Amino acid sequence: MHPCDDFSIELADEIAQVAFGVQLGQACNGQGVIFLQGTLGMGKTTLTRGILQAYGHQGAVKSPTYTLVEPYQLVDKLVYHFDLYRLADPEELEYMGIRDYFDDDALCVIEWPDKGAGVLPEPDITLTLDKAGEGRNALLQAQTVKGAEILQQLRTITG
Ligand SMILES: Nc1ncnc2c1ncn2[C@@H]1O[C@H](COP(=O)(O)OP(=O)(O)O)[C@@H](O)[C@H]1O
Ligand SMILES: [Mg+2]
Repeated sequence: MHPCDDFSIELADEIAQVAFGVQLGQACNGQGVIFLQGTLGMGKTTLTRGILQAYGHQGAVKSPTYTLVEPYQLVDKLVYHFDLYRLADPEELEYMGIRDYFDDDALCVIEWPDKGAGVLPEPDITLTLDKAGEGRNALLQAQTVKGAEILQQLRTITG
């Protein structure tokens, strides 16, 4: 897509990471598919905690490493948090009925999406986390029209 459909931000620490997750959650408004890319320890789960806080989730966010997905039913929003780190074969996703999760009325946040290549749907946004000094850089790239709309919302929210 057009390069202006990218959004990049530096996140100095865990607090900034969660705060940005909240803003991203607000921008998504409970819809979309987000691929969270970046190596172990880059802050994918931390960012997800912020996304969930945007819809009122106050508790911890466990990594669904063995169960692959954790559903969160939050007031009027449904969020599925996937962690595919342990996924050996993308076909396992077929057995767990993956398609049922990708509903227009749910937000799907997916750690280690590469492990589900070929079975996962196309994301609206790919979000890539890299080290930036002691903190992190988040690069968001819209992959669909809906993704571009979410990034437009995000620009408004982050000012
Ligand atoms: N922006 C940031 N700057 C510095 N440390 C961060 C940042 N975001 C998260 N962390 C820290 O990185 C570590 C790993 O975070 P986590 O979310 O579990 O990573 P991942 O899910 O990508 O493996 C945690 O200790 C967390 O506090
Ligand atoms: Mg994680």
